[in-house]
Amino acid sequence: MSMGASTRWTPDSWRSQKVRQQPAWPSRKALDATVEQIAALPPLVASGEIAALKTQLAEAASGNRFLLHGGDCAESFEGCRATPITNQLKILLQMSLVLTHASRRRVIRIGRFAGQYAKPRTEENETRDGVTLPAYRGDNVNRPEFTEFGRTPDPALLLRGYERSALTLNFIRALVDGGFADLHHPEQWNLDWVGHSPLAVEYTRMVDAIGQSLRFMETLAGVRVHQMQRVDFYTSHECLLLDLEQAQTRQVPRRDGWWNLSTHFPWLGARTSNLEEGHVEYLSGIENPIGIKVSPDSAPRDVVALCQRLNPSDEPGRITLIHRMGAHRIAQQLPPIIDAVALSGARVVWVCDPMHGNTETVRPVGGPRAGQPVKTRKFAHILAELEQAFEIHRTKGTVLGGVHFELTGENVTECTGGARGLGDDDLAGAYRSAIDPRLNYEQALEMALLVARRM
Ligand code: PEP
Ligand code: CO
Repeated sequence: MSMGASTRWTPDSWRSQKVRQQPAWPSRKALDATVEQIAALPPLVASGEIAALKTQLAEAASGNRFLLHGGDCAESFEGCRATPITNQLKILLQMSLVLTHASRRRVIRIGRFAGQYAKPRTEENETRDGVTLPAYRGDNVNRPEFTEFGRTPDPALLLRGYERSALTLNFIRALVDGGFADLHHPEQWNLDWVGHSPLAVEYTRMVDAIGQSLRFMETLAGVRVHQMQRVDFYTSHECLLLDLEQAQTRQVPRRDGWWNLSTHFPWLGARTSNLEEGHVEYLSGIENPIGIKVSPDSAPRDVVALCQRLNPSDEPGRITLIHRMGAHRIAQQLPPIIDAVALSGARVVWVCDPMHGNTETVRPVGGPRAGQPVKTRKFAHILAELEQAFEIHRTKGTVLGGVHFELTGENVTECTGGARGLGDDDLAGAYRSAIDPRLNYEQALEMALLVARRM
C-alpha cells in the first residue's frame, strides 16, 4: 500500500488490513450481535463538543492553552462509583488550577475516563504455577481473575463497558453542572502532606496565591468562580478495539465527515501505530482530534509519516504527539523527532507522558508482597522526564503544550517517592491498579506544584 490516504475510507475499511492487539473472541457471532446493539444505542458525546476540543487543542499547539490529560491506566467496572469518580475530577481540577496559575494559560482537561476499559498487552498469555491463560486485556474484554472463565474474552462485557461509560459521563456532567463548586478553593484541598516536603513553605505560598487570585476574581465579578465559567472535562481512551470504535462512528446532521461519538479524544497506542495497519487506517477517517503515543523506538521519519497520513491537510488541533520516552532516554530520543516534525511543517500539540517510559518491576523486601514482583514508578523519574521535556522543547523553540499522567484521586500506594517518601515496602498497602501504577492524590498534586514551579 502507498503511504497516502487509502483511496476510499469507510468506518470498516480497517478490516482489510492487519490489526494488532484484538482479543481472541470465542465467537464471532456473539461479538457481532453485541456490537450491533451498541451501534443502535445513543452516542456518549456530541460532535459539537469534539469540535470545540479540537479548536482548544489548536490553541495549545500555538502556546495559548495547556493540556492536562490524566486518569487511570485502566478503568475498572468496579471503580464506576461515586467516590472514585468525584475524587478523579477533584484532583484533575485542582492540578489544572495550579497549572493555570503557573502557566498563565487556560488549561484543557481531558480524562482517561468513561471508556478506558481496554488494554494492549505485550504478552498474549500469562503463566502462573505452570498454568497458561490469556492475559487480562481490560474489563471490556475479560476479567483480572486468573481462571479459565475469567480470562476468556466475553463480548457481553463490551456492552457493560458501554453502559458504565455512560453512567460515568452522566455523573461527571452532573458534577460539572452543579455539585462541584468549592473544589476550586484551596481551603477545600487536602494539603496535610505538604508539611512532609522540604518545599513546604514554597508550596504553601503557591496555594495561598491561588486562593488569593480566586478571591480577587470573585470580588471583581461579584460571583463565585464556578459561576463564571463552566469547568469542562473531555473524555479519552485508547483507540484499541476497532469493532467497538466502529460501532460508534457516525455521521451527524449539519456537519461533514464521520465522528467517533464514544469519546472526544481517542489515542493511538505505542503498540498499534504501524502506518500500514488497521488502527491508523481507522483513525485516518474520523474527525476527532487524536493523540499519538511516541515511544523511544519511534523513528523520526515514521512520526512525520503518521502526522501526514492522519492529518494530510494539516488541520490545526487534529494531532497531539504524546511522547513517552523514559527519564533515561528522552534527552537522546526526543530531539531528532522534534527536528523532523518541525522540518515537515506539521503543527502539533507536544505532550509529555512521563509515566510509560519509567515503569519498573521491584521486589519489596518487607510487607505482604515481599519477594514478589510489583510494577511501580518512581516519583523522581517521572519528574526528571518532565523537567527534561520542558527544557528540550525550550531549546528547540517548540512548546511543551501539555502533560499526561496516570493518576487517581484515591489514596493508593502504587508509585514510590513524593513528599511522604513511599518506599517499595509500602507498595502492598493499597495497590489497586490492575495494570500500571498511578500517582495518588498527594503525589499528583505535588507533581502539579513542582511542574508549576518550573513553568
Ligand atoms: C497507556 O497509555 O496506558 C499505554 C498503554 O501507553 P503506551 O501505548 O504509550 O505504552
Ligand atoms: Co498505562
